[in-house]
Amino acid sequence: MSQADAFETVLEIRARAIEELLVRLLDERIEPGEIARPARLLQAMRHGVLNGGKRLRPFLVLESAALFGADEGAALRVAAALECVHCYSLIHDDLPAMDDDDLRRGQPTVHRAFDEATAILAGDGLLTLAFDIVADEATALSPDRRAALVLALARAAGIGGMVGGQALDLEAERSRPDETGIITLQAMKTGALIRVACEAGAIVAGAPAADRERLAEFGSAIGLAFQLADDLLDLTSDTATMGKATGKDEAAGKATLVGLHGVEWARRQLGGLVGQAHELLKPYGAAAGTLKSAASFVATRRR
Ligand code: IPE
Ligand code: IPE
Ligand code: MG
Ligand code: MG
Ligand code: MG
Repeated sequence: MSQADAFETVLEIRARAIEELLVRLLDERIEPGEIARPARLLQAMRHGVLNGGKRLRPFLVLESAALFGADEGAALRVAAALECVHCYSLIHDDLPAMDDDDLRRGQPTVHRAFDEATAILAGDGLLTLAFDIVADEATALSPDRRAALVLALARAAGIGGMVGGQALDLEAERSRPDETGIITLQAMKTGALIRVACEAGAIVAGAPAADRERLAEFGSAIGLAFQLADDLLDLTSDTATMGKATGKDEAAGKATLVGLHGVEWARRQLGGLVGQAHELLKPYGAAAGTLKSAASFVATRRR
């Protein structure tokens, strides 16, 4: 088995553990403080979450947590919370007012399977649920660590992170940003959640600030690589492989580095970012082997 195949096997094993927890978090049970869980909304939330997906962000949480010897149960809950934020971002990204997509993870998008209003609310519900999961005492960490995770997640998801990046992405359809502008928008819309995924494991473990910063930087490098690969795949892959529409970015006037500099440049750039990411892991030696493979996977992935 090649190293890449071995990595994908581990990714799938972790994905199953994450999904088991997500199923439980999205069941009909009513928690203290809740009044009722409307069935259709819950169904739409499940549709947006329990529909495959690589589960890369939760994987990164688990691996960075393991690197610092964090509590596995707490890391799994934080990982699930982050996946909820990611799935919410996809549901809203696919809305007619945004990228207007009909297919996600090989299935109809949430607004297609349900309706637009329900998709908006399903996204809202998932974003809120993410903070519920982290803040809950069932995430067996000190109140300080839970608060630090809430803050890091809020900053990564909000106006200075993913949401801000999505706003810049829409503006860029008209404003035609230069390379620096595109890198900023991508670091925000995609990089921020991947960065916080890597950082979160260090927070769960209570790792020293320098390690937390190093993991965050590692996340930034692979976050940029991840969107660069996504933009390449939009051009070079197909709907059947990706489970989502491809060949749309150029037509939609999306500002991408692939559009600006071409495919060959993007491939070289990807190699550079992976090299940077690997370099950042050097101090951890063999213990960071899986994270190293994750960086390579981000650049060479086919879906
Ligand atoms: C897609 O993310 C959205 C981007 C940030 C490019 P993924 O490629 O991780 O999507 P899933 O979760 O595997 O479906
Ligand atoms: C998505 O970027 C970034 C998000 C915050 C969801 P894209 O719009 O390129 O993602 P896909 O191609 O629809 O998955
Ligand atoms: Mg988009
Ligand atoms: Mg999109
Ligand atoms: Mg894309």
